[in-house]
Amino acid sequence: MASPGASGPKHIAIIMDGNGRWAKQRGLPRQLGHERGVEALRRTVEACRNLDLEHLTVFSFSSENWKRPAEEVSSLFALLRLYVRQDLNTLAKDGVRVRVLGSRHGLPDDILSLIEMAEEKTSHNTRFQLNIAFNYGARDEIVEAAKALANDVEAGRMNAADIDSDAFATRLWFSGVPDPDLLIRTSGEFRLSNFLLWQIAYSEMMFVDCLWPDFSETELIDAINAYKSRERRFGGLTVDGLQSE
Ligand code: FPP
Repeated sequence: MASPGASGPKHIAIIMDGNGRWAKQRGLPRQLGHERGVEALRRTVEACRNLDLEHLTVFSFSSENWKRPAEEVSSLFALLRLYVRQDLNTLAKDGVRVRVLGSRHGLPDDILSLIEMAEEKTSHNTRFQLNIAFNYGARDEIVEAAKALANDVEAGRMNAADIDSDAFATRLWFSGVPDPDLLIRTSGEFRLSNFLLWQIAYSEMMFVDCLWPDFSETELIDAINAYKSRERRFGGLTVDGLQSE
């Protein structure tokens, strides 16, 4: 009998952590760690496509990252520019839809145009979706959704009594993206750091020691195999391998 966890994840979300430590261990500037992080992202997108996943979501700039020195913030922006400029044509040709999710507030104009262009150019692709969480914070996302609901109620477009989790979810930045099956955080830290708090209610979680620049298909496949051996019950019960809600 197939075990309930036997099928692989369709959507993996990753907190790409450890670029700075990777660089520090080698006596290199942090910027180089982030650059190697982009290479790891490239490898991971390719591996996920080959493994027939449908979505990959990565945390590439959090709303808390503004607290870092201005020089590092601008180097993270520069990496997004570089990634889009270098990889967009390949992503578009490979059937990847790119979405950049997060607050647009405070982002430089050229980044806003680049995001718009990347989303537009790949909007018809359906094979695989890369969701880049950029200037993203889950609490901000939830607060914005609450404000949108409050506005709709205030304007008479809906009744407060009709607010349910679907109404809430359609007002989130990640609206339309299925919830992740598996969340991976690299670098041995056991925190969620304000990432996808609404969406990971039932996601499996894996915390791996590997620093993000070292993450490769091997670590990805290990995580997928570990996921397959887990039993997801979504709050229900499992009796003799059969799932009941
Ligand atoms: C965490 O490492 C990583 C980040 C804050 C940025 C992640 C960004 C990338 C991997 C590349 C950018 C990709 C795109 C598409 C823009 P850290 O600096 O917190 O590492 P540390 O905890 O070891 O210091």
